[in-house]
Amino acid sequence: MKIQPAGKLKGTINLPGDKSISHRAALFSALVRGETRIENFATSADCASTLSCLEQLGVEIKRANSTVVVKGVGKTGFRESANPLDCGNSGTTVRLLAGILAGQRFDSVLIGDESLSKRPMKRVIEPLSAMNAGLEATENHLPMKVRGRNPLRAISFAPPVASAQVKSCVLLAGLNSDGQTSVLEKTPTRDHTERMLRWFGVAVDETEQENGRLITVSGESELTAKDLIVPSDVSSAAFFLVAAACLKDSELVLPNVGLNPTRNAVVEVLQDFGAEIEVFNEREIGGEPVGDLRVRGRGRLPSKASANVLRGKIIANLIDEIPILAVFGTQIEGGLEIREASELRVKESDRIKSVVENLRKMNAEVEEFEDGFRVAKSDLKGAAVDSFGDHRIAMAFAVAALFAAGKTEIADAGCAAVSFPAFFDILQSVTK
Ligand code: S3P
Repeated sequence: MKIQPAGKLKGTINLPGDKSISHRAALFSALVRGETRIENFATSADCASTLSCLEQLGVEIKRANSTVVVKGVGKTGFRESANPLDCGNSGTTVRLLAGILAGQRFDSVLIGDESLSKRPMKRVIEPLSAMNAGLEATENHLPMKVRGRNPLRAISFAPPVASAQVKSCVLLAGLNSDGQTSVLEKTPTRDHTERMLRWFGVAVDETEQENGRLITVSGESELTAKDLIVPSDVSSAAFFLVAAACLKDSELVLPNVGLNPTRNAVVEVLQDFGAEIEVFNEREIGGEPVGDLRVRGRGRLPSKASANVLRGKIIANLIDEIPILAVFGTQIEGGLEIREASELRVKESDRIKSVVENLRKMNAEVEEFEDGFRVAKSDLKGAAVDSFGDHRIAMAFAVAALFAAGKTEIADAGCAAVSFPAFFDILQSVTK
């Protein structure tokens, strides 16, 4: 993919449905007895992996564009798959599905692509084993065998890493446990699972404790069908927010963007650094807060933030937006430092390494740390960069290319389809 520097961006962009929420909508509506209609379902390849795994497990799914109708089979109504379940590139698919499969009365094998096969599974193997499911994976990597058991043993678990996937995995297994299953979350992570379980009628108890938030579900819970609309993806919005905020005279409108407080730190951080982003028409759809966003370009930004360092609890809230924030850092006075973000090393690529290598190729001044990086305000130059097979790296560097002098070439940019297949077409259509 070859990208030229851009003058400004103008238009209205209807972003795809949120990837995290779409995965959950598909999986949870399969746990319902009855039919659920999901609108604005993500167009991402990742969410297609979730749908095809569910089909292999005997769930009937009808799909027309972004509308998906799922005929739920109930909490234990899945059918053993004849073949391994291919989760593709999707960490959310494998980790959430493992929680569901742990409570079935049959065995399953989960596999994935090269990137997913390198990602850590110990974080779900440990709690599911404690619940009495049988998990087998060589060196805690895929392929992973899940020996289902019902009921599972109810547990109280405090995940050692801040991860919504791990939290969700344990809560889903908890729906098939012999009592009350709890997750103690020290750092808040995205709460789409809690919200959507409630949408489907499950009582999810949340209690603030001294050492975090205790989230509890009962093994007796049943889910009730209820149609829903998926908000547009704030993580996909982030690329356009940064691009338009930094290109003078740009103006983009992004309707129906999910603004869940456990996901929207990117909007607040950009505003804090002086980006002109207006949020209007705030409302709720499908149990999730949404709003319309208008972003106007001011060119390179004089930082307004108290310090140009992001660390601590906010990191979990903007974990997927860090690649694009790194690019943003090259456009603001004082640059940007990200710390306590070593989880980035186990994403679709080692995102610290991917960002640092690409930014250096584009003439940015960057320092790498074990748990993050610091990027200085820099004059970017077009270069040949790599997506490292990682969708968010491909899109972040497409935006960097807009700010650079000269042409940029991104190798293997097609992986953007993992979350946002229309990204490059839309980018082209709003570039003036
Ligand atoms: C996700 C949780 C996050 C995030 C991923 C989607 C989810 O991963 O990075 O893109 O849908 O629960 P972790 O749970 O590994 O932090």
